[in-house]
Amino acid sequence: MIELAPGLVYFPDFYARAEQEEMLALLRAGVKAAPLFTPRMPRTGKAFSVRMTNFGSLGWVSDRERGYRYDSVHPETSAAWPAIPELVLKAWREASDYAHSPEACLLNFYDADARMGLHQDRDEAALEAPVVSISLGDSCLFRAGSESRSGKTKSFRLNSGDVLVIGGASRLCFHGVDKIYPRTSTLLPDGGRINLTMRRVTRPA
Ligand code: SIN
Ligand code: MN
Repeated sequence: MIELAPGLVYFPDFYARAEQEEMLALLRAGVKAAPLFTPRMPRTGKAFSVRMTNFGSLGWVSDRERGYRYDSVHPETSAAWPAIPELVLKAWREASDYAHSPEACLLNFYDADARMGLHQDRDEAALEAPVVSISLGDSCLFRAGSESRSGKTKSFRLNSGDVLVIGGASRLCFHGVDKIYPRTSTLLPDGGRINLTMRRVTRPA
């Protein structure tokens, strides 16, 4: 493991290829039950370039009218989200030192042209809990900075099977995905990148 900044901890190759394949099968089953949807920016209604779904008791959603929030049901099917697979939870249990379980696992799917602008993850009440990210499929150029949007940033590559913990002094760092590197992984037959981020949303009693 490599501490890239205080609280920003990188675990390269956390998941072996066989585990990545097993996880992909579990995620595909989840996406059948909770199909990918296109989130929209608050107010402007501009579509995100990623498509999303969630696992867990809460899922992160966004639309023009109600903005960023956590919801217990899928915005299009109104069904509860599928449970977070045990293999996904393994990264939370082993890479974070947080005693309680995550409630949400956001799945972002990036095609070759998708990106994620610099932002903070701050819709959670439990800011003492880290965000734990898993990357699958094509590599990306990830950027992380400070708590100020205009602060200095560092860029690094995230590859299939890597885990990144965004916690501690880095919990509110601005971060984003500048670029997908197409055809850098054979995990997804049609290419693209999947990112999972687990979050604790509510403060444990
Ligand atoms: C996110 O910040 O929600 C996604 C990060 C990533 O795709 O690596
Ligand atoms: Mn984020």
